[in-house]
Amino acid sequence: VTGSRLWHPFANMAQVAGKEVVITRGEDVWLWDEEGERYLDGTASLWYANIGHGRQEIAAAVSRQMEQLEAYFVFNEFSTPPALELAERLASLSPSPDPRVFLTSGGGDSIDTAAKLARLYWNEMGRPEKRHILSRTHAYHGTHGIGTSITGIPANRQGYGPLLEHVEQVPYDSVEAMRTAIEALGSDTVAAVFAEPVIGAGGVYPPPPGYLEGLASLCRELGVLFVADTVICGFGRLGTWFGVERFGLEPDMIVFAKGVTSGYLPLGGVIVSGEVAAPFWEGDGAAFRHGATYSGHAACCAAALANLNILEREDLLPRGQLLERQLLDALSPLADHELVAEVRGGTGLMAAVELAPEMRDRGFDPGAFTRVVRRHGVLVRPLGSAIAISPPLTVTEEHLEQITAAIHAGLESVAAGSTAALG
Ligand SMILES: Cc1ncc(COP(=O)(O)O)c(C=O)c1O
Repeated sequence: VTGSRLWHPFANMAQVAGKEVVITRGEDVWLWDEEGERYLDGTASLWYANIGHGRQEIAAAVSRQMEQLEAYFVFNEFSTPPALELAERLASLSPSPDPRVFLTSGGGDSIDTAAKLARLYWNEMGRPEKRHILSRTHAYHGTHGIGTSITGIPANRQGYGPLLEHVEQVPYDSVEAMRTAIEALGSDTVAAVFAEPVIGAGGVYPPPPGYLEGLASLCRELGVLFVADTVICGFGRLGTWFGVERFGLEPDMIVFAKGVTSGYLPLGGVIVSGEVAAPFWEGDGAAFRHGATYSGHAACCAAALANLNILEREDLLPRGQLLERQLLDALSPLADHELVAEVRGGTGLMAAVELAPEMRDRGFDPGAFTRVVRRHGVLVRPLGSAIAISPPLTVTEEHLEQITAAIHAGLESVAAGSTAALG
């Protein structure tokens, strides 16, 4: 093989092999590669480094936990202090009524958990025919079995043969389209609707005004569970704990991951309303025969608790909303460039710069263009036909300008056909 033997997720290894970028160090919004080159992290890694990189406080909290007890499982009646404390803390922060917290290792895990629980809930309620799961075009819900089945990004579903049955994608921006889809299936066959507050990995599509509120009330009216996938939108990205508070939503389930630990260790979960938990927690109850080895992993929970402390103490949470306008204002002038089709964003500290078809005509797909931007000291990511911007919540206005300047410089060098761009 050329280069390493690491098979990179989402990569065409025939193209990546031998061209790896090896990141060796991080501090706040800055990253360094093995050559000592410094970059501004324009995307908070994969939308998760909300508090920035290199916090010793988290390393110390994890180390203390590991010295005491690295992990013990939380199946059946077992638990550990950090798992119990994290569940309490997340429950108290969540807008859900009387919530229960199921912990997992990440977003995709949590999507599978929420979808299985939605179907099992209706089964326990004596309505097993309620099993359709509806999601939205452009939606990204991870790459586990169910997330792959319900994604609104067709390329992520192709080639695997038959996936989960009884799923359907509906245009992302229309409550009426969702109503039509549910009524066509019959609401007595629909278990749940899954929705990201702002669609992230599918291209950064903020909800049209009133959309999420309308979707939640449609679900209530038709007796369908409303599941908010806040994996990207939570923990400050939209300026609140779970993103949904901005729209006054009280979802039946809230799926979270990423920013809950700012990525210092892998952890995710599902916050389940008391009503959905009831058949499992009350009367004779029922077992949810689901859970992975590292559910509630003690060291991961310790990382989450330390991360929540930092978000609170440094008042970072509101910054996702405070900076949303500045980010969009900084990036918007790029829309005038001949190689840019549009700039999307404005809800939360996340945006996309959609590249014009001429960019491809000049030999640059979005991935190739991010490599041009990298030469100007900023790391951004390809997102379909766009590039994503979603920096840590610790960014300053100056950093936002730096990100914009690097993208602009990249556009100019491609437009000029400069050899530096092709390098
Ligand atoms: C909205 C959303 N849901 C689910 C996931 C999957 O999370 P994970 O990659 O931790 O499995 C992601 C990951 O980007 C996401 O953005």
